[in-house]
Amino acid sequence: MSENTYPSVNDLTLEEKASLTSGGDAWHLQGIESKGIPGYMITDGPHGLRKSLASDTGSTDLNDSVPATCFPPAAGLSSSWNPELTHQVGEAMAEECIQEKVAVILGPGVNIKRNPLGGRCFEYWSEDPLLAGHEAAGLVNGIQSKGVGTSLKHFAVNSQETDRLRVDARVSQRALREIYFPAFEYIVRNAQPWTIMCSYNKINGVHAAQNHWLLTDVLRGDWGFKGIVMSDWGAAHDRVASLNAGLNLEMPPSFTDDRIVYAARDGRIAPEQLDRMAQGMIDLIDKARAAMSIEGYRFDVEAHDEIARKAALESMVLLKNEDAVLPLAEDAKVAVIGEFARTPRYQGGGSSHITPTKMTGFLDTLTARGIDARFAPGFTLDLEPQDPALTAEAVDAAKGADVVLMFLGLPEAAESEGFDRENIDMPAKQIELLKAVAAENANVVVVLSNGSVVSVAPWANNAKGILESWLLGQAGGPALADVIFGKVSPSGKLAQSIPLSIDDDPTMLNWPGEEGHVDYGEGVFVGYRYYDTYGKAVDYPFGFGLSYASFEISDVVVSKTGANTASVTAKVTNTSDVDGAEVVQVYVAPGKAAVARPAHELKGFRKVFLKAGETAEVTIDLDERAFAYWSEKFDGWHVEAGEYTVEVGTSSRDIAGTASVTLDGDGKSLPLDEWSTFSEWREDPIGGPIVEAMKAKGESGELAKLPDNDMMNLFINSMPINSLTTLLGEPGKAVTAFLIDEYAKAAK
Ligand code: BGC
Repeated sequence: MSENTYPSVNDLTLEEKASLTSGGDAWHLQGIESKGIPGYMITDGPHGLRKSLASDTGSTDLNDSVPATCFPPAAGLSSSWNPELTHQVGEAMAEECIQEKVAVILGPGVNIKRNPLGGRCFEYWSEDPLLAGHEAAGLVNGIQSKGVGTSLKHFAVNSQETDRLRVDARVSQRALREIYFPAFEYIVRNAQPWTIMCSYNKINGVHAAQNHWLLTDVLRGDWGFKGIVMSDWGAAHDRVASLNAGLNLEMPPSFTDDRIVYAARDGRIAPEQLDRMAQGMIDLIDKARAAMSIEGYRFDVEAHDEIARKAALESMVLLKNEDAVLPLAEDAKVAVIGEFARTPRYQGGGSSHITPTKMTGFLDTLTARGIDARFAPGFTLDLEPQDPALTAEAVDAAKGADVVLMFLGLPEAAESEGFDRENIDMPAKQIELLKAVAAENANVVVVLSNGSVVSVAPWANNAKGILESWLLGQAGGPALADVIFGKVSPSGKLAQSIPLSIDDDPTMLNWPGEEGHVDYGEGVFVGYRYYDTYGKAVDYPFGFGLSYASFEISDVVVSKTGANTASVTAKVTNTSDVDGAEVVQVYVAPGKAAVARPAHELKGFRKVFLKAGETAEVTIDLDERAFAYWSEKFDGWHVEAGEYTVEVGTSSRDIAGTASVTLDGDGKSLPLDEWSTFSEWREDPIGGPIVEAMKAKGESGELAKLPDNDMMNLFINSMPINSLTTLLGEPGKAVTAFLIDEYAKAAK
């Protein structure tokens, strides 16, 4: 019996139980009216509500949905490094769901931005799992605090669109646990999303939707997930296998509930498993009941637009600001060039496409605020070559202006769910235009609109300022004006490195795979973990972002709080006369390690808002996981004893202070055997003294003597002890036997 007051599976027939495990239609659960179980609506997600009109109108157009606030997609919001902000956005999204009677909103998507070419990078958060997990957890908690569910997606390893429905992502256990899982894991442990959506792809040969290890052993067993798992739309291919693997819900329905009934009857599905999966559905519906019973609720359109503006403000990253070209004085003579100023690019394409409640572009905002500016569109948003007349008009507009704001970026057709990009280049005609304008007027500020990284280096010297505004949602125009005219200081930080060239990306050798599979050959070395470990130049590093204010980080102190835990404190001071915000970033750099580890990894951060001249002290706790790696040898997390450096900075390459801490280690060791090498024997607390005893016996002539000089030691160190006859001839057998026998005695 479930502990709720709702019907339990025990009150249902076999057919009814089976029916709960697939949808009613593309956007509804399958209710059982006679038992008082409603078939609530569940729909996209993730940066606002996309309640499709399809079921009412028969439309299959993804863009045909009821108006809802379009918040900045994760491309932008992730740059905020502000889980409190994402929480607020989540609350607002839930209110819209309550109005529209949507029980679960399908998001957020926390797959790792493995390669900037990934088609869904615009709706994913980061190349770093800790950042993605913390930011998206805020959103999940915010939505669920209002009694509406989330669907954390796409579990797991959906980092590319190429062949996304079938591709087999071959990933090491270590990379899964350290890179592709932790955002999911953190959110499960800290926010308990009501639902999780599995991905389309296979993981190491098994479709996510029928992967028992993934959906049951890891998700429920290791992490304690309490909610239900649904398929991505059309990802379940074998309902019986999926249900046995731990998939509660197939979406949309394939109208095959009878297969579940037969399988339950002939024993291919155990009764307890069907009960578990169906009870999960009942519990989900029960959780949504209170919010879905609210009648006549109307969300405050203006208040939500304002939250979208606040979110957009924190989503922009100021990359370059030579000669303090920004902010602009209100009375500056400004030329505005670029179609995006008039026709903003504010979200990505595909299932996340929202019909906004309002839309205010940058030009509209200037007009509304009575700011005079000369405008020229400069280029068209299609793929046609540059029209020289548009260039001439833009160059003319730039003449005599104090500053030229150039709104450049990727048109909608360049990136979307469903396909990966082929390069990270800016459209050639826009670069051509930029060069022509910059030749006329050097005071150019480029404002970029793009969902995923574009390369900046090839044209950056034509601009004094570069403001990466990503995709800002429906209130991007006012937010941009606030930042550009200095009402608010930019505070966004890159959630993804900007490489000099896509060919520098560590995943390029295995992108996007071939013949149905993709090898995640770079292992854990994704993004800055690769660039910083191997000393590769990047254009802008992970975590980077300028402000109109300036900050100083000082007094970095690390104290040990347990055998393998620590706490770091630092002071951060706004050393300018402008209010602003800085993100204090904590990276952990392991010392000597038994496996190849990244030079350092983000293990904590805090965004601090400081008035001019103000100082704050920040404390960030580092738990055992902050120092651990996933050991395939131990099939678990492992903290090695030794010294670790804790770095505090404002990007992965701007470290302001460091301190070290020596940890005890978790003491894990594996029993020694004949396949253990001499160095493993020497370093083992039991094996070490036995090796010494063996050497003594070699000296006294009781056993064969191992050569003992630096060269030979290097050679012998890597030798399993069962290879000694190669070196010592037959007497080697006795040496091996001595080691094994003594170990057996000592280990007793
Ligand atoms: C997408 C999901 C989305 C679902 C429903 C799928 O194609 O991958 O992210 O939630 O459709 O629209």
